[in-house]
Amino acid sequence: MSDTLLQTIKKRRTVRNFEPRPVSLDTLQTLIEAATWAPNHRSTEPWRFFVLEKGAKKRTEIADMVYEWTYFNVKNPNPKRRKTSAASTRDEIMMAPAFIYVYSIPGRTDEITKENYAATCCAIQNLQLASFSLGLGVGWSTGKPCLLPRLKTTLGAKMSWQVVGALYIGYTSVQPKTHRLPVNKVTSWL
Ligand SMILES: Cc1cc2nc3c(=O)[nH]c(=O)nc-3n(C[C@H](O)[C@H](O)[C@H](O)COP(=O)(O)O)c2cc1C
Repeated sequence: MSDTLLQTIKKRRTVRNFEPRPVSLDTLQTLIEAATWAPNHRSTEPWRFFVLEKGAKKRTEIADMVYEWTYFNVKNPNPKRRKTSAASTRDEIMMAPAFIYVYSIPGRTDEITKENYAATCCAIQNLQLASFSLGLGVGWSTGKPCLLPRLKTTLGAKMSWQVVGALYIGYTSVQPKTHRLPVNKVTSWL
């Protein structure tokens, strides 16, 4: 492995704070292409992407659905807090320079469906690493934006597909810090 790839792997962070500068469709195409070079067993190429452009009607529709979902599902009993929480989730979707959903398609058997899901996770990581190499950050969420009951019909995803994440993408403004356990804590050398 080259030193630069190793550095990219270690330095990439989950990012949710972006500069307002737009991400071009060409750049998104480059990132999605990088995603599609992920390993996938039996050449199923199981990933499917939905790009919701900034200002597009679909993005607003999803953001409004997330507002409603958050308002009714957030645990806090205080209505004012529920509104604030719902509005901040909606605004994050509206403001993200780029916003993409990633789905995984099922296979003939449960085993293949599981492999497809794993391959799609690899694809997202490829996209995250490619983004980092271009100065962009990605926030991978399996939370609120993925839990909407009408998400698939709104996007045009098939009912049998599995959502793997909603990706907030943009030029990084704040690069968070995090840590990892030492290798010996997670490895048995037998
Ligand atoms: C499958 C998956 C789902 C995730 N879902 C969320 C999420 O819903 N909300 C969130 O804030 N971060 C989410 N993350 C990001 C993780 O919290 C993040 O990767 C972790 O804190 C480690 O930070 P790092 O990515 O900067 O190394 C998710 C990551 C993965 C791999």
